[in-house]
Amino acid sequence: MIKFQNVLKKYDDVTALQGVNLQVRHGEFISLVGMSGAGKSTLLKLIIGEEHPDDGQVLIDDIDIATVSKTDLPYLRRKIGMVFQDIKLLPKRTAFENVAFAMEVCGHKKEKINGDVPKILDLVGLLHKRNHFPSQMSGGEKQRVAIARALAHRPVLLLADEPTGNLDEVNSDEVLELLLKINSLGTTVILATHASSLVNRIKRRVITIESGKIVREQAQGNYQL
Ligand SMILES: Nc1ncnc2c1ncn2[C@@H]1O[C@H](COP(=O)(O)OP(=O)(O)OP(=O)(O)O)[C@@H](O)[C@H]1O
Ligand SMILES: [Mg+2]
Repeated sequence: MIKFQNVLKKYDDVTALQGVNLQVRHGEFISLVGMSGAGKSTLLKLIIGEEHPDDGQVLIDDIDIATVSKTDLPYLRRKIGMVFQDIKLLPKRTAFENVAFAMEVCGHKKEKINGDVPKILDLVGLLHKRNHFPSQMSGGEKQRVAIARALAHRPVLLLADEPTGNLDEVNSDEVLELLLKINSLGTTVILATHASSLVNRIKRRVITIESGKIVREQAQGNYQL
């Protein structure tokens, strides 16, 4: 599904990634771990075409993302959902409306939105909070709404960039459980985090980045700093 071939990415004189080779198959759950500045977010930005490699290639389903035109990029991005550490929900809209908005933007009809949003909120365990505003929800609940929103256009790939960064342990666990559940339903998930304890517990593929290089690959958890 995703292939990095000898990828180099620089920001002026900073080398953010170098010699990165990586293959992600459909249905995988991958944790990308590394310290601050290691290059995790840059790697995710290359996947969504927000940044382009200075050398090498990033292929998504065999398409070189650097060759995708500006007009076609939004279509490719619709296949990808993203969640971030800083949850940017619309403050004046309820949980339901936040998810509905993502579908409206994609041009879905009202009946479809009204049918789908409750199902997605149910999936993330928040149907009972459908009429709550972000200010009336905990950090973990807000992150789960953000995940629901990212799932609104049924992405085949979900990228989560430090989604538990602002959450306590209980909420972090819930978000992680949710990502695992989404993965079990068929969505490929890439989780970028520096929280090694988090990925230790789930026995999945772990890729460690240090100073822009992949230094370790483990098939099953047990990552140690
Ligand atoms: N837009 C930018 N301009 C210049 N340098 C950048 C830019 N974005 C990232 N960098 C640099 O590239 C390197 C990798 O950054 P990146 O954001 O990918 O790291 P990260 O692993 O996501 O870190 P964190 O855990 O803090 O989010 C860092 O040295 C960073 O300072
Ligand atoms: Mg980052």
